[in-house]
Amino acid sequence: MANETDLMERIVALAKRRGFIFPSSEIYGGLNGFWDYGPLGVELKRNIKQAWWDDIVRRPPEGPDGGPIEMVGLDCSIIMNPTVWEASGHVTGFTDPMVDCKECKGRFRADQLFVVQFVSAGWEPQSSKDEMPPAITAAAVASTPEEAISLEEPSNTKLKAMGVGRAFHTRAWLIDEYRRTMADDKSLPEPPCPNCGAVGSLTEARQFNLMFESYAGAVQNEASKVYLRPETAQGIFANFKNVLDTQRLKLPFGIAQIGKAFRNEINPRNYTFRSREFEQMEIEFFCHPDDADRWYTWWRDARYAWYVRHGLTSDRLRLRDHEEDELAHYARACADVEYAFPFGVSELEGIANRTDFDLNAHQEHSGRDMTYFDEEAWQRDAGQYKAENYGGDKKAAKQAANEAKQGMPYRFIPYVIEPSGGVDRAALAFLCEAYDEDEAPDEKGEAQSRTVLRLHPRLAPIKVAVFPLVKKDGMPEKAQALYRACREQMTAFYDEKGAVGRRYRRQDEAGTPFCVTVDGQTNEDGTVTVRDRDSMEQVRVPSEGLVAWLQERLGRA
Ligand code: GAP
Repeated sequence: MANETDLMERIVALAKRRGFIFPSSEIYGGLNGFWDYGPLGVELKRNIKQAWWDDIVRRPPEGPDGGPIEMVGLDCSIIMNPTVWEASGHVTGFTDPMVDCKECKGRFRADQLFVVQFVSAGWEPQSSKDEMPPAITAAAVASTPEEAISLEEPSNTKLKAMGVGRAFHTRAWLIDEYRRTMADDKSLPEPPCPNCGAVGSLTEARQFNLMFESYAGAVQNEASKVYLRPETAQGIFANFKNVLDTQRLKLPFGIAQIGKAFRNEINPRNYTFRSREFEQMEIEFFCHPDDADRWYTWWRDARYAWYVRHGLTSDRLRLRDHEEDELAHYARACADVEYAFPFGVSELEGIANRTDFDLNAHQEHSGRDMTYFDEEAWQRDAGQYKAENYGGDKKAAKQAANEAKQGMPYRFIPYVIEPSGGVDRAALAFLCEAYDEDEAPDEKGEAQSRTVLRLHPRLAPIKVAVFPLVKKDGMPEKAQALYRACREQMTAFYDEKGAVGRRYRRQDEAGTPFCVTVDGQTNEDGTVTVRDRDSMEQVRVPSEGLVAWLQERLGRA
């Protein structure tokens, strides 16, 4: 745990040092749960979104039958008619249980608030009058009892105060469980606040809605209340008919959207992992109810493979199918793509079979028809409704046809498979997986430790850095010309300051796959040195064909 905590600290430090991620409005002390992406971070995020958009919308993968699948994109407004959130269930159900501290005004999620007890194990009485030292009761905000215990290891001072300095048995309860246990075990003290330590100041848990509220227009009252969207998905459902009618789509097809989402998380934590403002990449894939299981499995596996393809190749990535009792009431199946971050295993993306729940809900609340009519199935069967099959009664045949058209197998509300991922969580997982420390020789050939981000070339913020070896003999001019040529095709960086070894190391930390150096030999034969970030191997490449050489290797990865 200590090592992993340390690793996370090093990743956070690198992200700050190299301009990937900064605390939002840092000059004013920041704002909990909000982050800014610096010059390298914004490129990383854009590359993730672009890769997703290209692979999902512009060049979608082949479906389970090997045929193309239909995908279109959408960009909805963040603030929508608030009835959207009534229909989706967010107004009443998008809540987390919350506990407040009356003393310090701290606010904690009851399902992440543990009360921890440390009980002396190695204690032995020195005299017959010695009493067992009291247990230390602390509280920690954590995801698991083990994490709570490790966060609240009693300090040496506390141990000394208790007159013990050895092993402790420990136990952690969720606060609700602890309070229930208190009712039976009167020796247990009131839980302390994890922030200020005040005893007896924590309130009972109550439900807290995570949606940010605002007002549309000049008057601020209930009628003008609006919400910042907590997910991009509902904009897709609300536009289902618009997209269907304007794009002449046939089932199955998907609508994809990337955009900001906002959740007033009670405890934003683990760096950017749980933020209050974040970006989602969501797909709502509409299909015939009979095909939903097949599409669910296909999307689940395709989404997992996408993360592997972009570099999450270690055993830190997993796919976890939800147990029956974990499923939301409307979901028929759900799986999480999880990553073992240094702070614990957590969800990157969820893939769910949401049945016809959402479209049904919007049909009910909006009064608009959300059904799909399967024209092909109807054309196939329409012959059954000829007058001759109704004893020549044209009216009866027409009536039977109209009735048949209203329901299965011709008219129905499609089922939805939803792969829903977070851009910020993906960026964090790619950063964690890419982070590595090894050794590289310095100018004198001596091994020095180096930090390197082994980012997938498609995601790397800068694809190539171009350096003159020294600032003379026409090298800067040649390097500048090469830099300009590279910049036409890819993100490139020019650097002529300091020792070349240090310039390499800066680019290693930025995750730049290739560094190009113009040196003395360039003047003789026109070749440049290209250094590979991962292997640190150097090859000579004719400067004439450099851009194509780089493009080939970047594209091949
Ligand atoms: N439409 C379904 C939906 O929104 P979700 O599991 O609540 O499902 C989907 O969110 C994804 O959005 C998560 O897998 C995660 O990647 C991202 N996400 C959710 N809450 C987040 C937060 N507070 N901070 C960063 N990313 C978050």
